[in-house]
Amino acid sequence: MRFQGRVAVITGGGSGLGRVLARRFAAEGASVIVADVVGHSATAVADEISEAGGRSLAHTTDVTDSSGVEAMVETAREAFGPVQILVNNAARATDADFLDLSEETWEEDVAITLKGPFLCSQAVLADMTENRSGVILNIASVNALTYFGNEAYSAAKAGILSLTRSLAVRYGPFGVRVNAIAPGTLRTPAWEQRRQKDPEVFERVSKWYPLGRIGEPEDVAGAALFLASDEAAWISGAVLPVDGGLTAGNLQMAQEIVIGSEDHTP
Ligand SMILES: NC(=O)c1ccc[n+]([C@@H]2O[C@H](COP(=O)([O-])OP(=O)(O)OC[C@H]3O[C@@H](n4cnc5c(N)ncnc54)[C@H](O)[C@@H]3O)[C@@H](O)[C@H]2O)c1
Repeated sequence: MRFQGRVAVITGGGSGLGRVLARRFAAEGASVIVADVVGHSATAVADEISEAGGRSLAHTTDVTDSSGVEAMVETAREAFGPVQILVNNAARATDADFLDLSEETWEEDVAITLKGPFLCSQAVLADMTENRSGVILNIASVNALTYFGNEAYSAAKAGILSLTRSLAVRYGPFGVRVNAIAPGTLRTPAWEQRRQKDPEVFERVSKWYPLGRIGEPEDVAGAALFLASDEAAWISGAVLPVDGGLTAGNLQMAQEIVIGSEDHTP
């Protein structure tokens, strides 16, 4: 039980990766606040945790709304105590060609993906600095590291890496660790619309991954729990790609550059 007695907030905890993180943190003893703008999803995940014997509370939170975020942190404090672990997981990527990307979509995607982590971090840092202890884990994306489309979302995810480093340096002296994970493609509901248009999308995308498959939320959960735990006590300001090798390089491109090289693809 790596998080016995600790209080963790998972934003966007009602679906996909957030749901798995909420369940895994709770299984390791944390009291988990499942914060999601879709209240019934948050409640369903909190119920799953309770049924499994864990401690959890659902909170309907829009991470772009500062008063809602403050209310969420206050609710957590009253129910379980000051927040010790914050996972900034909520995000949104809207598919649109760059020239058709509306100002409204840009503002909304960036607000959920970047302003949300700003507001949530600000809301938990007072307690963390006072207690000289805390962990903030930002879920970024491989889109923060190299180009994969979704310009607004990607710019926001790149911004999260800067925020991660800023807060790690600024609040390290107060015992607060801040890290980021950059996942590759994950099998989550976020892909539902794309899969409806293209049922083979995961199979096609898988071929770009050196490890030959896309990721499951559980692949990220292992890294997230490690970075939030005391085993990572001297890790701060780090960005960990959890991406099946995707951002390590491009085998097809390498083979085309090295003329005549053998194809080592199994
Ligand atoms: N799925 C992928 O391929 C992939 C790849 C790289 C990174 N990620 C990152 O992983 C994280 C989780 O993504 P996912 O695939 O599980 O997505 P998802 O769409 O399944 O879940 C996102 C959750 O965030 C919630 N949410 C949206 N707007 C919110 C708001 N304003 N306030 C609070 N909650 C809000 C949604 O209701 C939903 O429950 C995100 O940060 C995403 O960028 C996902």
